[in-house]
Amino acid sequence: MSHGDDRQRDLIANLDFHVEAGLDLFLDEVPHDRFGEADAPEPVQAAPVRAPVAPSGRTPVVHPARDESFRTELPERGAPPPPPPQTRTFGQSAAAKPGEAAGDARARARDVATLAELEALLAGFDGCPLKFTAKNLVFADGNPDAKLMFIGEAPGADEDRVGKPFMGRSGKLLDRMMAAVGLDRTSAYVTNIVPWRPPGNRNPTPQEVAICKPFIERQIELAAPDLIVCLGSPSTQAITGTKDGILKARGRFYPYRVGDREIRVLATLHPAYLLRQPLQKRLAWRDFRTLRAALDGKA
Ligand code: URA
Repeated sequence: MSHGDDRQRDLIANLDFHVEAGLDLFLDEVPHDRFGEADAPEPVQAAPVRAPVAPSGRTPVVHPARDESFRTELPERGAPPPPPPQTRTFGQSAAAKPGEAAGDARARARDVATLAELEALLAGFDGCPLKFTAKNLVFADGNPDAKLMFIGEAPGADEDRVGKPFMGRSGKLLDRMMAAVGLDRTSAYVTNIVPWRPPGNRNPTPQEVAICKPFIERQIELAAPDLIVCLGSPSTQAITGTKDGILKARGRFYPYRVGDREIRVLATLHPAYLLRQPLQKRLAWRDFRTLRAALDGKA
């Protein structure tokens, strides 16, 4: 095996490691050593950088992070601070701040009359920064006429790629949990409180949830289910308003008012949590039996 093959294998292993760790999004051309920047000495007059010549006479490959010509220019000490970097955070929205974006979302959501219109509205809504890092809008899956609606947290990488919620490992587990009580995606409508994937699978911030909340509220109103199951804490807290953690909130019914109608909301554990804590499946199983009983008019 040649040196070049070794290097390629190491680079692929390194990339795999970062993807596994959730770093699957490039925000810039080269990595930044922020710790190094903080300790960096005063900039000196830059001498022209000449690529070192290897003993073989061939110019070696220089890693961009170690190549001075790729370095971010540091301001001179004492110079006025540079203007903040331009980000697209809210730049493309009519609303400039998260509070305004949430107000804008609420006003727009009120105007749509069908789920299809709501999906189109979301596709054109630029007020949530997550839209700009996601590949696709993840609106919903399943049957919008079903009596039952599942609400998760936010799309992950699989959902972002496919454009539908609960497509990856959590989705497979959710499908098995549903099947255990005689349900599938023809008998339930499935969505999330946030319809764009947060980069690197981080949790959506409270601001992002607040901006998207008018949309999920309108989605509930238009789908008009009899029963909602919130999967995990962020969804339970956003929909029911409880501050309790999911281990306390799960298994309970909460009222959710839409006009003069009351929808029952059952909180349970998120399938992603169950994949990490399989012993907790016994609690989810109890909740799904409660769900079945509620659908059968016995709870
Ligand atoms: N987790 C969620 O909360 N929603 C999805 O769609 C996928 C994973």
